Amino acid sequence: MRKHIALASLFFALSFSACKDDEAKETTKTSETPTAPKAKDTAPAKPAIPTAPKASEAIMAQAKVIAASGSKVSGTVHFSMKGETVGVHATISGLAPGEHGFHVHEKGDCSSPDAKSAGGHFNPHSVDHGDPKGETHHAGDLGNIAANAEGTAELTVDLPSSFLSLAPDAANNIVGRAVVVHGGVDDLKSQPSGASGPRVGCGVIEMYKAE
Ligand code: CU
Ligand code: ZN
Repeated sequence: MRKHIALASLFFALSFSACKDDEAKETTKTSETPTAPKAKDTAPAKPAIPTAPKASEAIMAQAKVIAASGSKVSGTVHFSMKGETVGVHATISGLAPGEHGFHVHEKGDCSSPDAKSAGGHFNPHSVDHGDPKGETHHAGDLGNIAANAEGTAELTVDLPSSFLSLAPDAANNIVGRAVVVHGGVDDLKSQPSGASGPRVGCGVIEMYKAE
């Protein structure tokens, strides 16, 4: 029995000293590399500096609307996103008096004479065409703009960024797509695009910076 106790205590003593050795090794390991975690701490702080002021500034985009389908339409559509609100301001002239379908179309391509190169309505959520004031509508459904007797239409509206966005990482980002003005009225219910007739104006939405 005494022999066993002696052996056991010897074993404990050995294993205890072994633990001490490991601890010593571990502490020297961490003390050898004190610069590595410091470098990691400063690295992510660098890209965080330029993104911080961007969040507080407005993101702006603009579309210069050019004539299509033999019309004399011209104008500008300005978009400004601040926080979760996107302000839309459109001034379009050369229209027939009355209401005209007004949408963001999928492709930023106004090159074809009938502007069909802009594709269909921008619809990232794969839902039905509809009234922008209703629950279901394309992200590109801006309804109608009304032209006065002189053929000039003006629209100013604030939309939530859940409707459409200018944020580069958003699924409903409209930058690089096109604004299209139609010859007829969007009835806000016909599928797939409100039966608003020929495309009489088209403009590619591009990022814009005020100087
Ligand atoms: Cu359209
Ligand atoms: Zn639509």
